[in-house]
Parts: sequence; structure tokens; C-alpha cells
Amino acid sequence: MFIATTSAPVNIACIKYWGKRDTKLILPTNSSLSVTLDQDHLRSTTTSRADASFTKDRLWLNGVEEDIKPGGRMATCIAEMKRLRKELVENVDTSAPTLSTLFVHIASYNNFPTAAGLASSASGFAALTASLAALYALPSPPTELSLIARQGSGSACRSLMGGFVAWNAGTLDSGVDSHAVQIAAETHWPDIHALICVVSDTKKGTSSTSGMQRTVETSPLLQHRIKHVVPQRMKTISEAILAKDFDRFAEITMADSNQFHAVCLDTSPPIFYMNDVSRAIIAVIEEYNRVALLPENGGKRKAAYTYDAGPNAVIYAPAAHIKEIISLIAHFFPQQETFKDPFGLFGPNGIGTGSFAAGFNVNVAKTWETGAVKSLIHTKVGDGPRVLGQA
Ligand code: DP6
Repeated sequence: MFIATTSAPVNIACIKYWGKRDTKLILPTNSSLSVTLDQDHLRSTTTSRADASFTKDRLWLNGVEEDIKPGGRMATCIAEMKRLRKELVENVDTSAPTLSTLFVHIASYNNFPTAAGLASSASGFAALTASLAALYALPSPPTELSLIARQGSGSACRSLMGGFVAWNAGTLDSGVDSHAVQIAAETHWPDIHALICVVSDTKKGTSSTSGMQRTVETSPLLQHRIKHVVPQRMKTISEAILAKDFDRFAEITMADSNQFHAVCLDTSPPIFYMNDVSRAIIAVIEEYNRVALLPENGGKRKAAYTYDAGPNAVIYAPAAHIKEIISLIAHFFPQQETFKDPFGLFGPNGIGTGSFAAGFNVNVAKTWETGAVKSLIHTKVGDGPRVLGQA
């Protein structure tokens, strides 16, 4: 029996991937860029076993066995990893055990509810790829492994690295140039924290996979975005990250989230991922930044919201502002679950009611229905996959 266990992080994009030019190989219509979140808080953990007694490849997700559809995404990833084992290990060292010929049993767990509306497929496929790479003792660097995780779920390729990660769309039909690269490690800018506002934990109506295909087929705005918007934003946000310029990072992140949702609205029939609570959170953060941008307050943005294919907000902010932002969100949006304060920002009395900077318009959120937020999760930028055990 050969066995390896790894964990892999969640990533949340600042420049969104939305649209495929090849649906089988999962090649995107534009490059994207994300922040890897700390797996001390949110992670998928995957154990892979290879044994001569196994009679087929099998998969368990959170303890429940799932079918591995022949020719499907999971089957493709497993087959690609076996191919690498053969090519890079067994053909080089002919005395190495021929693990590529054995069936595998794979068990994966998320430490967050799959239904929390967080991208569990990204951390899941990254953990699967990393765990098979450890099982097979592959010499492959993360960029090479990202080519395989990408074929499980596009956004998964960015979870193979920590810090700030770009997925270069590439131009080749084979997809060999469509991989992830690290723009900066988590140690470069550890000050970036994230607050996830879980607005709803029900499964989304339109999946990313089918939604983005409908957008490719029907949205003229997507074509404009691909050609005239994303290339410049990729460049500018990478520069902002290297310069640790949060104001610029925030401006681009929010603009790109808004354009992604505009592209969804430009799809026929339109796709709506945000709800009134999501929009009210936007209004609150925009007002928070409007006040922060006043010259007497420093003239720089202090927070950036972004939304994936669902209503939940992710707010990026420098560590120094997170306590204030949590209080602000808690003031407008009562939470259904007690805030777990992982960084110990608040005392035993909890978040409290918060206070506002001079000039903050407290009526700002009234434009929208400000319902409750289910829960708030505080985390920060983190590292790439970790090998937890190998035998
Ligand atoms: C809105 O990676 O889930 O989160 O490649 O079809 O599996 P598939 O789609 P997926 O799409 C993620 C879309 C997004 C934006 C992003 O993460 O960049």
C-alpha cells in the first residue's frame, strides 16, 4: 500500500475567469488572478492510496462515495497523473514501483461546508492533484501540476500556489501554455486579510460551468472585456501587488468583480448571482472607501469587495483595517452564527456595535434590503498545498 495526504487552499479571484475557449481541456478566454487564502482556516484535505488489491479507481467526498465518470473531469485528472508517473518516474528509473498501473482510492474532505458557497472545487482538485503528485513522487513543479488541476476545474489551477497567483490564458490549442504562475508569495504581502461574508449557503442556481458557456455564446460585453479590459488589468494589478499598493489593488479588484457581474447580466437569458444583501455590502464598502479617500483621512481605499458566482462577499483589506470592517458589517448585517474570532481582535463581549468615521453616511445601506448575514469568516493570504503524510 502506497499512501499520501495533502491539503490545499481556497483561492478567490481579483481578476475573474469567466469563459472557455476549449471546454474539454478547460482553456479560458481570458487570464485571471487570485489570492490564495490561508488553509489554516479553509482547506480541502485529500488522501490517495494505491494498492495491488484495488479493483477500480474510487472516490469519496466528505465520506460519501461518488462515481468517477469515464472521460469526466475526475477521470481525466487521475489518468493525467498516472501518465506523469509513468513518463517522469517509471521510464527514468526502471526499478521504481509501477504505481501507474495500480488503481487508486481517493478520499477528500473540506473543513468548510461544501454548501457555504465557497469554491470547494478549486481547493478539491488542487488537493487531489497535489496528493497524487506526492503519492507518485513526481518531480513536477506547481506550474506543471497546475496544467492538470486546470482540467478538473479551471480555478483549481490557481490553488497550487500560495500568495498571489495568475492563470495565464495561453494561446496554444494543446493548452500547454495555460497554467498558473506565482506573482508573489504570501510572505511578500502577508498583511492582506480577507473577510468572507456568507450571505447564503444554498447551492447556486446557475453553475459556473454552464453559466460561463452561456456568456461566451451570447454576451457582446464579454468580447470587449477579453480584448480591451483584462490584459491591462492583469498588468496593473500585478504591479500593484509587487508594490504592495492596496489602493490600486482594491480599485481593480472591485471594478473587475462588477464587470464580471455585468457580463452575467449581459448574458441571454441573464444570470443573477448577487442579491440585495450582496448589493448592500457593496454600498457599505463603497461608502467606507469614499470617506477613506478624503484627503484628511489619507486619500486611500481601505477595503475591496469581490463576488464569485454567488451572493457571498469576500472583502480584502490590510490587517490594520479588518477590525473596523468587521464592526461595520456587523452593524448593518446581524449575523446568524457567532463570529469565531481567529485572530483575537475582539474581547469576550464580541464584535459590539461599531463606530463610524466622521462623515460616514449611515443611511447608505438603506437603498437595499439589508437582511442578515449567515456568518463571517476572517482569514488572510496563505501558502500553497502542503504534504501532510507520505508512506
Ligand atoms: C466566478 O473554475 O468553478 O469563481 O472551470 O467550469 O470548473 P469550471 O469553473 P470554475 O469557475 C470559477 C469562476 C469564478 C471566477 C474565478 O474563480 O476566477
